[in-house]
Amino acid sequence: MLQTILNRRSVRSFLKEEVDEQAVEALLKAGFHAPSAMNQRPWHFIVLKGEKLADVLAGSPNTPKGSPLAIVVCVDESLERFKGLGDSDAAAATQNILLAAESLGLGAVWSAVLPDSVPHYRKTLNIPTNVRPYSIVPVGKPAQKPEPTDRYDAAKVHWNSW
Ligand SMILES: Cc1cc2nc3c(=O)[nH]c(=O)nc-3n(C[C@H](O)[C@H](O)[C@H](O)COP(=O)(O)O)c2cc1C
Repeated sequence: MLQTILNRRSVRSFLKEEVDEQAVEALLKAGFHAPSAMNQRPWHFIVLKGEKLADVLAGSPNTPKGSPLAIVVCVDESLERFKGLGDSDAAAATQNILLAAESLGLGAVWSAVLPDSVPHYRKTLNIPTNVRPYSIVPVGKPAQKPEPTDRYDAAKVHWNSW
């Protein structure tokens, strides 16, 4: 697991090959197994392929293009007991999906659903008003992957006190 965490990098260029169903299920399972505040599990996952994926990406300028598949991680705000915790839950689910992708030899990238793009996601994907798209994770076989880097920074580690 530690090696998976250390090796993971954002992948933004993909082979045309499909991601098989078993792998998609494993990615979703990883998302569902994330920790969540008060175990509310406020997430929904929208799996996108083909034309629908293209439609969504057309209104999401910051999201890398060219993957055969993407997963939109959404938060059901009606399950959010304290404002903001739903985003933390969705972040945990997003990271679990990235790590699962790495462990399956797939490439993935965490892409924000920026506030300006939320109406586009809602309309294109028919997302109900109590649910907010949080992130979109393009996934595929990597065409290119950055090398892992050492990011440990002793200057940002504080023992017992700042
Ligand atoms: C909250 C968040 C939002 C991000 N949004 C985007 C994005 O919109 N587009 C993108 O290409 N990458 C996005 N990234 C990926 C970061 O750019 C990337 O994780 C960072 O540069 C570190 O590189 P690495 O993932 O290869 O370690 C996002 C990452 C996080 C955690």
